[in-house]
Amino acid sequence: MTRKYSSRRRVLVTGGAGFIGSHLCERLLADGCDVLCADNFFTGAKDNIAHLVGNPHFELQRHDVTFPLYVEVDEIYNLACPAAPIHYQFDPVQTTKTSVHGAINMLGLAKRVKAKILQASTSEVYGDPEVHPQVESYWGHVNPIGVRSCYDEGKRCAETLFFDYHRQHGLRIKVARIFNTYGPRMHPNDGRVVSNFIVQALRGEPITVYGDGSQTRSFCYVDDLVDALVRLMATGDEVTGPVNLGNPREFTIRGLAEMVVERTGSKSRIELRPLPSDDPKQRRPDISLARKTLGGWEPTTPLEAGLARTIDYFRGMRAG
Ligand SMILES: NC(=O)c1ccc[n+]([C@@H]2O[C@H](COP(=O)([O-])OP(=O)(O)OC[C@H]3O[C@@H](n4cnc5c(N)ncnc54)[C@H](O)[C@@H]3O)[C@@H](O)[C@H]2O)c1
Repeated sequence: MTRKYSSRRRVLVTGGAGFIGSHLCERLLADGCDVLCADNFFTGAKDNIAHLVGNPHFELQRHDVTFPLYVEVDEIYNLACPAAPIHYQFDPVQTTKTSVHGAINMLGLAKRVKAKILQASTSEVYGDPEVHPQVESYWGHVNPIGVRSCYDEGKRCAETLFFDYHRQHGLRIKVARIFNTYGPRMHPNDGRVVSNFIVQALRGEPITVYGDGSQTRSFCYVDDLVDALVRLMATGDEVTGPVNLGNPREFTIRGLAEMVVERTGSKSRIELRPLPSDDPKQRRPDISLARKTLGGWEPTTPLEAGLARTIDYFRGMRAG
């Protein structure tokens, strides 16, 4: 991206070839921005953004955020980081580096070019929470030395860096704590419950439910999440977050499995397996702050509709 001659906002999306990032790039282009997508393709894919490549306002750069990036932009969405346990535990040292060095490099860039910067943080900063639902003022209950710590503590340190750059250098920051999000372009083998159930159902394999399936989860459709990210970026400089983003509507895991079987028309049976010891009974965001600060934002896509679109995507992938 070069110097600014047009009135278009120049926006950098790190991790832009990933699941959420690719939808965000699409939305920003539709909003009339010049979009630079930077990704090292660790979990992202060129297929996710192939349909954007011919657009003169879209640019793709292979780049690892653990190295500095020198570009001229007005806004930065920092999404680069593997998000599913099987991916972030593959190379835990690199995961921490991506969160921490990545944040330092992107904050350094924001400081140099005076850009506004948004961090894709996570509900995992609350760890194994003792407070339900989680509010932003809760500091969390995180194991610093476990196998999930590379992700949880990496994201916590990134939040610290964002707030220190804000306090020390006056940077305009936005921190979004994203809860469970689903939709087309999720990785088919990332072990997350929505993609797992859909893939099992489409293959006619048993749907594996842990425990009796009465544990609840909430799922946010990707378009609702992206809308919240864009609204958060557009808030006044006094709004820094952290702000929870997700869909508070709860479903039992068994209910989700049944819905997937019904919607795919699959013959798959639901198979109960022993519950892992660290499986939380409930996970649900408190989104009061988001409702208040994001101009009437509310997740509007019902699970039934979002699932239908996600199932279509996975069906297309199998056919393709
Ligand atoms: N999907 C969710 O439910 C969820 C929940 C909470 C937080 N988040 C956060 O949102 C962001 C996007 O998640 P996602 O679900 O789209 O995951 P994803 O794995 O599909 O996307 C992450 C992208 O970052 C890229 N990437 C990874 N390491 C990189 C590096 N060092 N340099 C450059 N690019 C790199 C990957 O190739 C991928 O394209 C992540 O930061 C994640 O922690 C997601």
